[in-house]
Amino acid sequence: MESSKGRPVWRGEVKQVGTITVTDDTTGKTVKLPLLEGETGPRAIDVRKLYAETGYFTFDPGFTSTASCESAITYIDGDEGILLHRGYAIQDLAENCDYLEVCHLLLRGELPNPQQKEDFERTITYHTMVHEQLSRFYSGFRRDAHPMAVMCGVTGALSAFYHDSTDILDPRQRMIAAHRLIAKMPTMAAMAYKYSVGQPFMYPRNDLSYAENFLYMTFGTPCEAWKVDPVLARAMDKIFILHADHEQNASTSTVRLAGSSGANPFACIAAGIASLWGPAHGGANEAVLKMLEEIGSVDRIPEIVRRAKDKNDNFRLMGFGHRVYKNYDPRAKIMRQTCYEVLDVMGIKDEPHLAIAMELEKIALEDPYFVEKKLYPNVDFYSGIILKAMGFPTSMFTVLFAVARTVGWISQWKEMIEDPVQKIGRPRQLYTGATKRDFIPLAERG
Ligand code: CMC
Repeated sequence: MESSKGRPVWRGEVKQVGTITVTDDTTGKTVKLPLLEGETGPRAIDVRKLYAETGYFTFDPGFTSTASCESAITYIDGDEGILLHRGYAIQDLAENCDYLEVCHLLLRGELPNPQQKEDFERTITYHTMVHEQLSRFYSGFRRDAHPMAVMCGVTGALSAFYHDSTDILDPRQRMIAAHRLIAKMPTMAAMAYKYSVGQPFMYPRNDLSYAENFLYMTFGTPCEAWKVDPVLARAMDKIFILHADHEQNASTSTVRLAGSSGANPFACIAAGIASLWGPAHGGANEAVLKMLEEIGSVDRIPEIVRRAKDKNDNFRLMGFGHRVYKNYDPRAKIMRQTCYEVLDVMGIKDEPHLAIAMELEKIALEDPYFVEKKLYPNVDFYSGIILKAMGFPTSMFTVLFAVARTVGWISQWKEMIEDPVQKIGRPRQLYTGATKRDFIPLAERG
């Protein structure tokens, strides 16, 4: 699967397809920059030599026009609403695969054949238990700690437990670290939940599927046999698939940046979890449900839409808009369908939040403000309603996102480590502070 350089053999090449000439209007000096093309998607101007040749940096806060790396994992066409993992459409994967097949695809580059699937499942389930001493970390947290705070802590702590998979230069150790993270994250997430409700931790059960096991560790208790509804397990699995990877978003870029210094993978994933927590990113699913609760009834929607459009109000419609998608997020469509299925199997009729969400979506999609700015529902818009119906408290929503995204983070981290052009990430800046000034001794400072 891997070439002698340790680089996956299925990866395409970046080609130079021309040059771009940049002219400095102040001096008339010109510089030619290579124009690069990947397999598909917009071309990119290679500015690596720009500073050496001109003494200028590029300025792009928020990386709105900057490709930070080559990647062969995930492709998004935001205008068309297309999401592909290793070339496969998210709709096909969500419909026909289970989450571990998608993990195999992201991490190893191909969908598994039946034998590879069996082997991969065995490998992952082999790693589902956490070191017994890791469970003691939980009691150091307050019971009311946000589970994302707990996840940042215990994931970072993994590097103190699994020294034998922290040598990032050893391909075998990199793969073991990846397997450990994918396998242990649901166990740690379920433990965070159990700790918050004061129930005993449940050990993983390797006879269950990835999603079933997670639901079992979360909602099962030692007192009675627990049986998972197959529709709910499938919904959980689909939610994991829909969140598995999403190219160079904030948390993935955080993982890559942390890893670019040679930090160990467990520490890097802990950094990714911290970045995911914010409400503009993975924290949006929790924020959506809080927003729907605050709206309370359909007749308050016009007021909330007015606030979202008001330039002087920093309120935003949570679950709407995306940096890359300027069309309906393909994941949101699948999520909406899954939402109906879950509510149906749970026997929940007239779910008040769903009614508000659907009306909000309808109004926003017709409103010129949202239409002109191309703000559509994103993956987080419906996921909270499903997770709430399944019994998860809102504080666990982003944790579930973190569980699912771990495979994306670690696949991207691994790809970066194996990329021969990889360098430590070190952005530059436009300095706006004071220039050199004379030092004033303490006694003379007024
Ligand atoms: N409600 C109201 N107005 C919005 C919204 C929104 N949800 N999102 C963007 N806008 C407006 C924004 O005010 C700006 O208007 P103007 O051009 O007049 O200043 C314009 O649309 C462009 O917004 P931006 O903030 O420059 O766009 P961005 O690409 O930097 O931000 C975003 C993308 C996802 C952070 C943003 O749309 C947002 O805050 N959405 C709500 C939070 C959310 O749902 N996040 C989940 C993202 S999907 C899952 C994930 O990636 O984790």
